[in-house]
Amino acid sequence: MTYDFNEVIDRRGTNSLKYDFAEERGKPGDVMPLWVADMDFRTPPAVIEALIEASRHGIFGYSDVKLPYFQTLHDWYRDHFQWSTEASWLVKTPGVVFAICTAIRALTDPGDGVLIQRPVYYPFTDAILDNNRVLVNNPLIYRDGRYTIDLVDFETKISENAVKLFILCNPHNPVGRVWSKDELIGMGEICLKYNVTVISDEIHGDFIYPGYRHTIFASLKPEYADITITCTAPSKTFNLAGLQVSNIFISNKGLRHMFRKAMCRTGYMQLNTFGLVACQAAYERGEDWLDELRAYLSGNLTYIRSFLREELPQISMVEPEGTYLVWLDFRSLGMAEEQLDCFILEEAGLWLDKGSMFGPEGEGFQRINIACPRATLEQAFTQLKHAIERIEVF
Ligand SMILES: Cc1ncc(COP(=O)(O)O)c(C=O)c1O
Repeated sequence: MTYDFNEVIDRRGTNSLKYDFAEERGKPGDVMPLWVADMDFRTPPAVIEALIEASRHGIFGYSDVKLPYFQTLHDWYRDHFQWSTEASWLVKTPGVVFAICTAIRALTDPGDGVLIQRPVYYPFTDAILDNNRVLVNNPLIYRDGRYTIDLVDFETKISENAVKLFILCNPHNPVGRVWSKDELIGMGEICLKYNVTVISDEIHGDFIYPGYRHTIFASLKPEYADITITCTAPSKTFNLAGLQVSNIFISNKGLRHMFRKAMCRTGYMQLNTFGLVACQAAYERGEDWLDELRAYLSGNLTYIRSFLREELPQISMVEPEGTYLVWLDFRSLGMAEEQLDCFILEEAGLWLDKGSMFGPEGEGFQRINIACPRATLEQAFTQLKHAIERIEVF
């Protein structure tokens, strides 16, 4: 290994949302945070060098990017996902959630139905409700430890609610599914049939575990590309969330025009200079770091799998196919949602994301972020085990 992912880096005192704002968010100050989706690893050295070089220049006026920025993205998606993009499709936004909210306002009117598949990344719900659209849910099916899509319900919900927009989470946060081509086609055909536009959030697409393959929804058929806004970002892949860059691909000229117009209405124009510098350096020179990181995360998963099997069989892990977020099933403890959340926080000393945040379907589950050094994970699972032992003695 060239990169030391075992290094425990002290992030306290850096204005880190994860480490420095527990009390402001009503949590104990000494809680161990494994909630928000950023990583406890330093970004690739090439990114740090590029940022230092840019900061040494010392002038931070308005900036934009030229063709080499796009070319870097183009090569990444061609080489990793056999997806061929064009420069004109690219719209840069300061985040994927920003892009989702923009697309909702661009493509729907208040009162229109927007479909999501719960349990799902909670800002999807907020984006729909805060923009006064109607949330239409196609709950995932959980059976034998695995989540799947209920296609019959998907079609019914779309037709009965005149759904205009579908926010696809591919791969899916928090359940860790990497949707197969067949599953994507199943949904894609229904979207075509009912004229539903698709926002495909592919922010976790670079984190796929061995044995699985990520398929970019828009890459499957030109007809899908024509109805899709594909949201990508370097923020999860290279741990750059604070630099606020995402790359949105919209091949349909009409959709792109509407999206750009809605963006203009927010008043947002050029992106942050450092974000653009970091993004290009990461995709250009961060790949060997990412390869090692993925292997390290697979090791973290192996650790959790065996710890749960040997030490904590009461808790089960929904085996993730992708993402660095793991969905843990605590239902065998028989606790109500608030009681479970309180137990995790107060007794185990862990700050995870409680399942119901992702929709009522998530009750009894908790999401843990495993993008941390092994030692951190070991400490977290040991704390959890001791807390469970204490209730069992009672
Ligand atoms: C599915 C998904 N989409 C979007 C985001 C956030 O993206 P951004 O910070 O670019 O808004 C996250 C972060 O966890 C996520 O899991």
